[in-house]
Amino acid sequence: MAAPLEKRIILADYGKPDSHTLSVYEAGGGYSALKKALISEKDKWTPDAIINEVKASNLRGRGGAGFPTGLKWSFVPRNTGKPTYVVCNADESEPGTFKDRVILEDLPHSIIEGMILAGLALESGQGYIYLRGEFYKGWQRVDAAIQEAYAKGYLGENILGSGKTFHLATYRGAGAYICGEETALLESLEGRRGHPRLKPPFPAVKGLYGSPTTVNNVETFAAIPHIINNGGDWFKKLGIGNEKSGGTKLFSVSGHVMKPGVYEVPMGISLIDFINETAGGIRPGKELKAVIPGGSSTPVMTRQEAMRAKLDYESMAEIGTFLGSGGMIVLDSSTDMVQLTKRLADFYAHESCGQCTPCREGSKWIADIIDRLIDGNAVEEDLTTLLSFTKNMGNGTTICPFADANVMGVVPIVEKFYDEFLYYLEKGKSGEGK
Ligand SMILES: Cc1cc2nc3c(=O)[nH]c(=O)nc-3n(C[C@H](O)[C@H](O)[C@H](O)COP(=O)(O)O)c2cc1C
Repeated sequence: MAAPLEKRIILADYGKPDSHTLSVYEAGGGYSALKKALISEKDKWTPDAIINEVKASNLRGRGGAGFPTGLKWSFVPRNTGKPTYVVCNADESEPGTFKDRVILEDLPHSIIEGMILAGLALESGQGYIYLRGEFYKGWQRVDAAIQEAYAKGYLGENILGSGKTFHLATYRGAGAYICGEETALLESLEGRRGHPRLKPPFPAVKGLYGSPTTVNNVETFAAIPHIINNGGDWFKKLGIGNEKSGGTKLFSVSGHVMKPGVYEVPMGISLIDFINETAGGIRPGKELKAVIPGGSSTPVMTRQEAMRAKLDYESMAEIGTFLGSGGMIVLDSSTDMVQLTKRLADFYAHESCGQCTPCREGSKWIADIIDRLIDGNAVEEDLTTLLSFTKNMGNGTTICPFADANVMGVVPIVEKFYDEFLYYLEKGKSGEGK
């Protein structure tokens, strides 16, 4: 049974036995959007019509940046004489984010159908799904689903007799967070080290093998069949009180809630209602302290900020944070914010690709300062130094937004919970959890 406030569209089949198989997907209406676009309403669904429907849905990319998907697709030039590629970003490595894994493992056909529809929109004949290396089960499930789709004529040459072609293959990364950055992903997919590329040119114009390419998130593709089946307007209105952030959104909730997991809810619901009613509330005897709303690189919210937050892109921006990928980390009153910062800082220091000096050095400096603090070897100037040099780490000083992601994750914790950092300085230990 669905939890309160849940609205399952993408996750409609989640939890059904064998939900990853073609027969279960088809029984729930799977591939009907593709049949509609290719056969029953063939003349209606020109490439531009598909793009316009996606534009009308106000679907915003679910990978973190929230860029409007239809607009992104409209930037991909057609008739260039080069192949066009559709690439699915299934790298999902941001701490706190584990919603794509559910789709990959349990609903792989929804990604495939979404990608074929993207292929029709962009007149592309080839797609790739780039999975993080650790997603072994997801990779097996996706590969098996691709085989099923080929056998049924949904993939390959002359799809369902339509004359259209779309091929699809998987590619496994080796477990690097940076390979989720779309140009690093493309480098890795081409067989090179996953170093982000300078932009412009953007992948839409010069992406995989120098050809026009769209890179979209797993959840973004999984939403497409529903938009084609029910209309962009329908999707847009699924959100509550704000059509600009239309649709439903998957959140992976971890931390100090009674029911961590992956939930699909309408955009625009209250964050606190979501925590209490859907995720089971905070652990007994504890109070909410803070929420990292959309993955480790989205600025932390204090309890007060969280109490008035709504789960959509605009409301989050008003509070000074982001909806991000929907990787929500809920923190109760027992949380040691200095130790939390250490986990994040160590992650970013380890995952920086090292290409740009501000990121390579800055990420290490942040981690070193937090280590010194925890080891009892820091002075207050270390904290002011951290808050000062991090201003020069991102903001266009680097090739990709990794350094910005690091700073956006770490600095607001230091600023908003500064007293706890001072307590460590004075007492050499945490003031929390006593
Ligand atoms: C360091 C870094 C890691 C990222 N990791 C992911 C990821 O794992 N999955 C993802 O979809 N997008 C990730 N992104 C965002 C992608 O660069 C890109 O914006 C996204 O795949 C676009 O898809 P969308 O428009 O459907 O959101 C990452 C970005 C950065 C800077």
